[in-house]
Amino acid sequence: MEIKNSSYITTADIGDVCPLFFKDFNLDGEISSANLEITALGVYEASLNGSRVGDFIMAPGWTAYNKRLQVQSYDVTTLIKKENRLCVTVGRGWFRSPMPGWEKMEGDKKRRYEQPCGLIAALILVFADGRKQIIRTDESWQVKESPIRFSEIYDGEIYDSTFTTDNSKPAETLSWSKDILISQEGEIVKEIEAIDACSIIRTPAGETVVDFGQEVTGYVRFTVNARCGDKVRFLHGEVLDKDGNFYNDNYRSAKAEVQYICKDGEQTWNPRLTFFGFRYIKLESWPGIPRKEDFKAIVVHSELHRTAYVETGFEPLNKLVSNVFWGQRDNYLDVPTDCPQRDERMGWTGDAEVFTKAASYNYDILKFMTKWLHDLAADQRPDGKVGKIIPDIILHGHSSAAWGDAAVICPWQLYQNYGDISILQQQFNSMKAWVDYITNTTPTPGLWTDHFHFGDWLALDAPEGDRIGASRIDLVATAYYANSTELLAKTGELLGNDMEEYWKLHSRIKTEFRKAFPVYITQTEHVLALQFNLTPDPEKTARDLAELVIKDGVQLRTGFTGTPYLLHVLSSYGYTDLAWKLLLRREYPSWLYSVDCGATTIWEHWDGIKQDGSFWSTSMNSFNHYAYGAVIDWIYEKAAGISHTDDHAGFTELLFQPHPCKEIGWLKVQFESRQGQILSYWKHEKDDTFTVMLETPVEAKVILPSGTRKVKAGKHTFIEQYK
Ligand code: BGC
Repeated sequence: MEIKNSSYITTADIGDVCPLFFKDFNLDGEISSANLEITALGVYEASLNGSRVGDFIMAPGWTAYNKRLQVQSYDVTTLIKKENRLCVTVGRGWFRSPMPGWEKMEGDKKRRYEQPCGLIAALILVFADGRKQIIRTDESWQVKESPIRFSEIYDGEIYDSTFTTDNSKPAETLSWSKDILISQEGEIVKEIEAIDACSIIRTPAGETVVDFGQEVTGYVRFTVNARCGDKVRFLHGEVLDKDGNFYNDNYRSAKAEVQYICKDGEQTWNPRLTFFGFRYIKLESWPGIPRKEDFKAIVVHSELHRTAYVETGFEPLNKLVSNVFWGQRDNYLDVPTDCPQRDERMGWTGDAEVFTKAASYNYDILKFMTKWLHDLAADQRPDGKVGKIIPDIILHGHSSAAWGDAAVICPWQLYQNYGDISILQQQFNSMKAWVDYITNTTPTPGLWTDHFHFGDWLALDAPEGDRIGASRIDLVATAYYANSTELLAKTGELLGNDMEEYWKLHSRIKTEFRKAFPVYITQTEHVLALQFNLTPDPEKTARDLAELVIKDGVQLRTGFTGTPYLLHVLSSYGYTDLAWKLLLRREYPSWLYSVDCGATTIWEHWDGIKQDGSFWSTSMNSFNHYAYGAVIDWIYEKAAGISHTDDHAGFTELLFQPHPCKEIGWLKVQFESRQGQILSYWKHEKDDTFTVMLETPVEAKVILPSGTRKVKAGKHTFIEQYK
């Protein structure tokens, strides 16, 4: 990388203003190619002769910055002239914003806020006559204040379009490691879509609120006709309160505010170095009368290829599916985040872990997640501990079962879905270190005890207001320990290692689990014992679970760890009808309750908005948390019946076992596997049979009421009688 021979440049004492670094240069010949290698400590936007370089928003993305900083490379040949100006504005971004919000200003947060801003670049010019010239960042660059007066992840952006200055000074060099520079690994973050405002609301409180009809992540692009000095100011929000007024107390300390000082005439603008999660904006200041057509919500996220489509004969379910997809889009902005709006927006490992299977059907996420897993490994502590968030910006953070297990579950799931063993090769040491960390730190061999855990986070069986559900945390932790040990042993064998030691460990954990937890109390305890094959009598445990769910009023009580597996274990043990009832339930608590409340994304809490219209709380109430959206993987695998047989990762042999439901009439799932397009379709017919169709690119094992058989690649139709 040529950039390694350049110097980092910086500027001191610029405060909150985003500095603009620039370099003028003239060329004395025709150029055959020009390539810009660039990255920043912060987020940058570059332009060459007034044209934006590339379309990567929030470049260079978010990585474990002290070990890995991605370098972008842009072909800028067509932008080069005889006389040139290369400009780069650098915002605080994830590198220098005071994050996370809940921390006090001292410590980690302050340290981040006080980091230097930095830029490093090399523009490699090749002339038609073969000569080469390299423009590097060094003290010959100039720096001045930009019109971006403030920009930060949580609080938003302030832009003064009237601001100009000739007051520039030479940039200073900054001593910073160049060993951390790596080529771009993840997907590019881009403007993906523009959504029109659907209405402008005058709320009962007299506020002017613009509604985009969909919660998105990105920013608002607006057009305004104004006089120099007029001010535009607005705040972002996800939902209206029960009286229909603007509400964003749940953003907590994140101000999520935009301010723009106008110039004369018609002008269009959007924030450049930050983003928001929102459906509504409240106009605090706007010159003139706002019209819907003045506003567009610009959807920004990592560029991902969509690989699945789900449609059913039941509209509320279709809306839930849409909400799951939006939840993923809104939370896949360079790292898999918990939520895109409040003062978090971080790569919470548990959230990423529970959603990875669903995510890997919805979109091709191999590249996106590979980058994040490399950060996970980079931030893993020497003893194997995995922090609760990745990139791990909390120096002294603790770990937790199901959160740290992302180290094992995510690579394993990516391998299952894409069949690419290299992800296991790359992550094996990290996977092993995590399992060893538990083994080496637990005081009770075979169990994981005496450790902090998030448990079955946000489960409903805890007392009102409590966040850690009623499931015993040592049970949850030991169940995940068993699962990760098993997946590690399988991974090691696939890679040709002797994993005897880990198989022995696995059987020890299983024995100790059975001794320590002879009975299961909560729904999630049953679910985990079944899902991770720990119960000595799965038929009984499944029956007990089904009875418990019925006793609870055919209602789920599960949180982050139980919910993703609840329907799977029910249908694996013959309780598919009950699984469907839970999925199709409209009343609280259920997936469709939020849909009926008008949700456009997945809520963090089953009761984010309660039946009386009030909110669960202000402190912990996101309306865009994808974790419970993991239920879509049950739709793919059990409802549509698309999975693969053992030892056929990457769908090289299909396992087709649909679980139809007459209440919804029909279901159609198209899934683009690495082997090609798979189609599953079923429809309830008048004579109470189901027409079942399968289109498969590979041989498939088909399990239907009429029998089990193998079929060749191609289209197949069956008429089936389901009980
Ligand atoms: C986040 C979560 C996360 C949790 C840890 C929250 O603040 O938003 O989704 O997993 O903390 O328990």
